[in-house]
Amino acid sequence: MARERWDKKSAFIMAAIGSAIGLGNVWRFPYMAYSNGGGAFFIPYLIALITTGIPLLTLEYFLGIHFQKGPSEAFGFIKKRTNFIGWFSLAIAGMITFYYTVIMGWSWIYILKSFGVEWAGKEKTFLFNSVLNISSDVSILGGIQWPILLGNLLTWIAIFLIIFRGIKIVGKIVNWTVGLPWLMLLFLIIRGITLQGAANGLNYYLHPNFSKLLEPQVWLGAYGQIFFSLSLGFGIMIAYSSYLPKRSDINSNAWIVAFSNCATSFFAGFAVFSTLGFLAYSNSVPVDEVVGKGITLAFITFPTAIAKLPGGVFSQSLFGIMFFLMLLTLGIDSAFSLVEAIVTGLKDTFQIKRKNAALGVCIVGFIVGTIYTTNAGLYWLDIVDHWMNWGLIIVGLLEMILIGYFTNIDEVIRTIDGQSNIKLGKYWVYMIKYFSPIILIVVLLSNLISEFNEPYEGYPLWARMIGGWILLIGLFVISLFIGRKRKEQKIIKLEE
Ligand code: PHE
Repeated sequence: MARERWDKKSAFIMAAIGSAIGLGNVWRFPYMAYSNGGGAFFIPYLIALITTGIPLLTLEYFLGIHFQKGPSEAFGFIKKRTNFIGWFSLAIAGMITFYYTVIMGWSWIYILKSFGVEWAGKEKTFLFNSVLNISSDVSILGGIQWPILLGNLLTWIAIFLIIFRGIKIVGKIVNWTVGLPWLMLLFLIIRGITLQGAANGLNYYLHPNFSKLLEPQVWLGAYGQIFFSLSLGFGIMIAYSSYLPKRSDINSNAWIVAFSNCATSFFAGFAVFSTLGFLAYSNSVPVDEVVGKGITLAFITFPTAIAKLPGGVFSQSLFGIMFFLMLLTLGIDSAFSLVEAIVTGLKDTFQIKRKNAALGVCIVGFIVGTIYTTNAGLYWLDIVDHWMNWGLIIVGLLEMILIGYFTNIDEVIRTIDGQSNIKLGKYWVYMIKYFSPIILIVVLLSNLISEFNEPYEGYPLWARMIGGWILLIGLFVISLFIGRKRKEQKIIKLEE
């Protein structure tokens, strides 16, 4: 059967941008920038982008375009018994998506509660008690929070409906799921920077603290953010690009996607920090007292600012709806890109029909996500999130080693450059073969050490084992098992 195709090249680019731009750009990036040296964070961030982000993005596009297969098969054309790398990337990304949709589930609730700004004046207890009903300890699962479960269900139904008819429909939907949040972001930026105190907030965001650059944590933050944000190591970019024709341009696409994503992060920072400046101003406190970490930024700090906006309840409600609708539309195309990648894997390797594969993945995703809808859900979400980021970096490292040391890498870059006006040449070879792997190994090792010295967020050992190490290693072993070669796969010479 002929491979499915994108309707046009721009559909692929939009889809790739949609996958990259997600919740990570709005709550993760601004917070990372803030806590890692403000404006100075842009230096490690840009270095991570240029040394690893772009080269790896190019590499993943190459795999998909050249071998015309998704992540479950592409690696096997290079070296026998390496398809497990693809399965491992899908497994890790799956684990990320299964909690990602739950965060989107909270957003549904917040959209409803925006009518009348129900959280006003009690933002913290609203999140922790009313919405999450959080237990006092990671071991106390308590019961299921039904509204969150329902929100998660809605998200999965939406994903299924978008995915099951094929890549052509995906290509149409992404115009909306990329366009709408951009529009809303623009609106939030304009509103943000015209609020009182905005300049103070922006000053915080952009004010460089260069001494931070000496801390290894900051570099991990930058590299981790580039992986997460560009959807690298997820297998998604391999799947999406496998639906492009064989002689497609690789380099320009990589630049367009990377640039759009990073620019969006940068601008999202303006919306977030101007609003924080306003919040600090209206509470008469310094900005650093209102900056929240991770989810608290989107689900406590922002709601607080919304409840203080001038213009009365009506305009506050409108802003609430807009902000959380933005989160939903930002997240949905990241979430379905991953489901598409798994579906591609199941189709390519096991010839499962698209519709059945999509249904299966969505049901499994929904069921696994139930753990995050319990009273201890947030704790588990936090633990799994922390460890899965390790997985992404490991996948990236394996990809670079495979291409760098088990192929004729000069031939690979000649092929890539031959299909584009932009040439990466020797630069790419050095990055893939030496620079990036070394940096990633250093980052992994230094963090492995701190992992043992300082248990993550003080969670008990058993919880870190189950939600962290055992899960990570378990996924790896399962991937090895699924990736065992079933049929003989021909190693493809690159000159062919
Ligand atoms: N790139 C996404 C983001 O920044 C991360 C993501 C991709 C999450 C795919 C899930 C699935 O939010």
